[in-house]
Amino acid sequence: MTQHINEQEYLYDDDEDFDPDDIATNTSKERSLSDIIEARLTRRATLKGMAAFTAAGAFGAPLFGSTALAGPGGSSLTFEEVPKVLIKDIRVAKGYSTKVLMRWGDGVVKGAPKFDLNNQTAAAQAKQYGHQNDFMAYFPLPRGSNSSSHGLLSINHENVKARFMFEGLKSNKKITKEQAEIEMAAIGHTIIEVKKSGGKWGVVKDSRYGRRITAGTTPMSISGPAAGNDRMKTNADPTGKKVFGTLGNCAGGQTPWGTTLTAEENFQEFFLGNPKKKPESRNYKRYRVKKAKHPWGKYHDRFNIDKEPNEPSRFGWIVEIDPYDPNSTPVKRTSLGRFAHEGATTVVNPDGTVSVYCGDDSYFDYLYKFVTKGKYDANNRAANRDLLDDGTLYVAKFSEGGMMKWLPLTYGQGPLTKKNGYKNQGDVLIETRRSADLLGATPLDRPEDVETNPVNGRTYVLCTKNEKRKAGKPRKGFGRKSNAPLNVASPRLKNTHGHIIELIPPAVNGKANHAAEEYRWEFFIMAGDPKNPKDKAKYHRGVTANGWFSTPDNLTFDPKGRIWISTDGQGAKQRGGYSDAVYAADTSGPGRGLTRAFLTAPSGAETCGPTFTPDGKTLFLNIQGPGSNGKEGFKKPTTRWPDFKEGMPPRPSLIVVTKDDGGEIGS
Ligand code: FEO
Ligand code: CA
Ligand code: CA
Ligand code: CA
Repeated sequence: MTQHINEQEYLYDDDEDFDPDDIATNTSKERSLSDIIEARLTRRATLKGMAAFTAAGAFGAPLFGSTALAGPGGSSLTFEEVPKVLIKDIRVAKGYSTKVLMRWGDGVVKGAPKFDLNNQTAAAQAKQYGHQNDFMAYFPLPRGSNSSSHGLLSINHENVKARFMFEGLKSNKKITKEQAEIEMAAIGHTIIEVKKSGGKWGVVKDSRYGRRITAGTTPMSISGPAAGNDRMKTNADPTGKKVFGTLGNCAGGQTPWGTTLTAEENFQEFFLGNPKKKPESRNYKRYRVKKAKHPWGKYHDRFNIDKEPNEPSRFGWIVEIDPYDPNSTPVKRTSLGRFAHEGATTVVNPDGTVSVYCGDDSYFDYLYKFVTKGKYDANNRAANRDLLDDGTLYVAKFSEGGMMKWLPLTYGQGPLTKKNGYKNQGDVLIETRRSADLLGATPLDRPEDVETNPVNGRTYVLCTKNEKRKAGKPRKGFGRKSNAPLNVASPRLKNTHGHIIELIPPAVNGKANHAAEEYRWEFFIMAGDPKNPKDKAKYHRGVTANGWFSTPDNLTFDPKGRIWISTDGQGAKQRGGYSDAVYAADTSGPGRGLTRAFLTAPSGAETCGPTFTPDGKTLFLNIQGPGSNGKEGFKKPTTRWPDFKEGMPPRPSLIVVTKDDGGEIGS
C-alpha cells in the first residue's frame, strides 16, 4: 500500500534553494507535447538519405530480440517489480539481496579511528567515510584487467546534512570551528578497495589504496586555459594554479585510461560575504554566490568573498583523480568549463578523440560537451594524462525537427570577444554560463546525469524537473534569471516529473561519432504517472503502476545496454510521496522505454551513483540523505537506516546489490 508523507515538500531538499523572486515571468502558452513530437517525426521523415545517423542496432545490438524477452510487456528484464512505498528500509526485487558496505564514519584510510559519534573530530573524519555519498565508479584490480570480483570504488561525498551529524545543532549558522572543519573533511571523495570472496562482497581493511580527498585540506593543481588567470589568484595562491580541496562533488565519470572525474556542483553554498559591487559581481550573480548555507567563512577567510573575492572561481570545475595512485595530486581540468557540474562521462570517438558530457544542474541551464584535441592511446596510460587540458567545449542548442547543434565556447569566436569583456579563453571558461548565454544555448529543466549507452551509442540526458517556469511575457535576461520560455527540449510548462532526452550522434563506419557538431535527438521518456493525463507522460504502454517514476537524477547501463535510472525527489507530495528508487528499462527492442521498479530507498533518501561490475552481476549504489524528509535530526528521524539504533542518526551509506543465484542483475 502507498504511504504518503505529511510535509508539503521535503523540508530540507538541498536542491530547493531557489528564491521564488529570483525568476521573472515566463513565456506564452504551453505547446502540447504531441505537437512537438509530431513536428519532430515529420521533420525526421525528410531527413532520410541525409547523414548516416545512427540507429538502434548500428552497434551490434539488433533492434529487436537482442535478449530473451522473458519479462512482461516484451521487456528483457525479468525481476518482479517492487511496489511504490515510503518505508524505513530498503526494498529490492525478490531473489536479490542488499548489503551495506560503508557508512558515514567507517574507516577508509589505514589507521582511521573508530567512529565515535559524540566525540567526532576533523582529523578522524579525514580518515573516515564522508557524508552524503553520491557518484561512484568501479575500477578493476589489477588495473587493466576485467575483474568483477576485485576492484576499487571511487566515491563522491557531495555535501553534509549537519543536523544528522551534530546532535542538538539548531541551525547550520551556529556551527563551531571544529564542526565546520568536520564538515569540510566529510565532503569530497573516498577511494576504497572491495573484494568478493565466498560469493560475498566486503571492504579490504587497511588497503594501501584507501584514501580520503576533502574539501578542506587536499592539495590540488589547476590546469587548462583558466590556470594562472588573474581571476584565479588568491592571497594563499598568487599563481592561480593551486587550490586546497574540492566541493559539492555530485555525479562524475571515469576515463578510458582509468581515472575518476568528479564534478563540483553546488559550490556556491559555501561562501560568505557581500556579492554586490565587486569586480566579480556579475560572476557571483550568475553562479548564485550569495549566502552560504555552510558558513565556513566565519573561521576560514578563503570562504569569505569579502576577504578572498576570487576563491569561488576556483570551484565549479571537473577534477581528475587517479584512484590507482594514492599519492597522486588531483587536477582541476578547467577546459571542461565552470558550472554546477553534475557528471562528466566519457566516450572514445572513431577518430580516437574523447568526448566528455556534462550537465549544468540548475534551473534553465545547459548541456555541455568537451571534445579533446589529442587522441586516446590505449597502450600508453601516461600519454593520456593531460588529454583533458586541450580541446573544445561546446554547449547544446536543440532545434525543431529533432536536430541539435553543438556551439563552441571558443575565445575570439562569435560573441566571445573583448567587446563582451573577455580577454582570453580562461575568461570564457570562468564565466562558462554567461558565455553559453551569449551563444544562445537551449535552457533545460535541470540537466543532471548524462551518459552514453555502450551498446547503441546514444547518449541519455536526465532532466530531473523544473517547476519554476511561469507563464507570461518573456523578459530580457539569461539562464535561471530569465523568463526562460518553453523550448523544443523543455516542452512542459510545469515540469513536475522530469524527462529523458536521447541524443543520436551520426555514425562513422558504424560507430557513433560523439565529436560531431550536429546530432539528432528524441524524447526517450516523459516521466510522471501515465494514468494521469495532466502529467503528459510518455513511456512504453506496458509500464505498470509501480514502474512509472519522477525526477530522474543518475543513470548507468548494464552490459546489455539497458538503462538503470535512480531518482531524487519522489517523496514530494506533488510526486506522490514515494521513496526514491531505481528503475530499469530496455533502450531498444519491444521493451524500449518500459521502466520497471527494482529497488526502493529508505524514507527520505535519494538513490545515487549506480554502477555495475563488468560482468553485470553486481550493482553498487549509494543511499544519500536517509531520513531527510523530516524536520527532526537525531531525535525523531523518519528512519534510522542502516543501524536502526536509538541515538544513532540515519547514515548515508554505500550498498551492494547481488542476485541470490549469482546471476546477472535484471536478467
Ligand atoms: Fe547533486 Fe544535481 O544533484
Ligand atoms: Ca544528482
Ligand atoms: Ca551515471
Ligand atoms: Ca538531484
